[in-house]
Amino acid sequence: MSMAEYMKLSKMEHLSLILRWGNEWLSPLKLNTNLDEQLMNFNGTDYAEAISNIHYYLEEAIDLPNGWLNIPYMMDSDVIAEILGVSFEIRKKADVLVVVGIGGSYLGAKAIKEALSPYFKPCEEGIEVLFVGHNLSGRYMNQVIERLQGKEFYINVISKSGSTMEVSIAFRILRQLAQKKYGTEANERIIVTTDSEKGSLKNQATNHGYRQFHIPSNIGGRYSVLSPVGLLPIAVSGVDVVQLLEGAKSAAWALKEADVEKNLAYRYAMYRHALYTKGYKVELLASFEPALAYLHEWWKQLFGESEGKAKKGLFPASVSYSTDLHSLGQFVQEGNPILFETFLSFREMEEDYSIPIDLQDEDALNKVSQYTLNEINGITKQGTFFAHSEGGVPIIEIEIKRLDAFHMGYLLFFFMKSCAMSAYLLGVFPFDQPGVEAYKKKIAELLITETIVK
Ligand code: PA5
Repeated sequence: MSMAEYMKLSKMEHLSLILRWGNEWLSPLKLNTNLDEQLMNFNGTDYAEAISNIHYYLEEAIDLPNGWLNIPYMMDSDVIAEILGVSFEIRKKADVLVVVGIGGSYLGAKAIKEALSPYFKPCEEGIEVLFVGHNLSGRYMNQVIERLQGKEFYINVISKSGSTMEVSIAFRILRQLAQKKYGTEANERIIVTTDSEKGSLKNQATNHGYRQFHIPSNIGGRYSVLSPVGLLPIAVSGVDVVQLLEGAKSAAWALKEADVEKNLAYRYAMYRHALYTKGYKVELLASFEPALAYLHEWWKQLFGESEGKAKKGLFPASVSYSTDLHSLGQFVQEGNPILFETFLSFREMEEDYSIPIDLQDEDALNKVSQYTLNEINGITKQGTFFAHSEGGVPIIEIEIKRLDAFHMGYLLFFFMKSCAMSAYLLGVFPFDQPGVEAYKKKIAELLITETIVK
């Protein structure tokens, strides 16, 4: 089936927004205009005006944590040069970088590393990057330490507050391991990424002379992937951070319009909001490339923490297809109609594999051997689109030109910008996470009062 037929068919069913970019960035949008009008009007919201007002507020307010909006332009070249220098040193002197962080202080790096590294080995230019401090599993920690046996390693501890319990505990364990192995040289192998002025981690770094990268005060955790929080581990993993930033810069430029007709990020935010008010309470991000599993996690944290407040917000969930077509696919097709899907896919993939001809053809697959695996993956996406559309599931489709550093940078920025707009459309503040603080407080109380039942 041709793309034109695919689009025609998709127009007949439910909402379909295809966001396309790549070389066609200037005219990338294909959508069903009738449905647009329905969506724009069904709850009486004048999205165009609301979005434009929020846009100017977001871009211009001086007291907002909106530093991430400019970071792709402003990331001053001294910081980039320093990140590249330290990353070069780590790759030269270590086999493994251990990143200690949780939430926004690790998910972006993990997402990009996983998306752009080969599946079963590090990037050619990179070394192994392990993540700790995002769980409290003794088993996990034990095995990390086992993994480090006989290996040279560096530690990058990342925490904006400098006092997150999971991170502090993991850092203490790893720091002692490094001190045992390297003695006083350990201090040179510890890199701290934290606030420039305050926090326990900042004090430790100053006291022990650890090298430091600073998280700008106007950039919150889940919006920090393009700051040293994400860039250092990503660079050590072998991904080209300059290209990542170039992609983000390109997105920042392309998504500067206040007009929802011209701004794809705002358009995505508008559709999400319209669907939410129409009764869909779950957004299911669906990819067809398993390397995106952690991008899903980053996206869930970004939207979940930004929007899930005041008893409002879409619940961000994710699926990896084909895997989940054989599990959650049943629910999507026929279950409680609370969800819509956002398909995330790539137009071009560098690697592919052909289905071989088999003279016996006992499995009757010779008829599809004209296709490659990626082509069948694309056909599966179309088939899923049709089936789920027939099942009544609205689908937004985001198609990215290619899976590389530039386009991932573009995508990260696209999602951050949509997310801030989405939260404001809901009437919640995108940049805090009071619910997260609540659990931290309860645990602290439990630990102090020793009421834990052993
Ligand atoms: O988005 C956020 O701000 C949070 O998810 C934080 O990143 C997370 O709680 C970790 O906090 P910190 O970097 O202070 O250790």
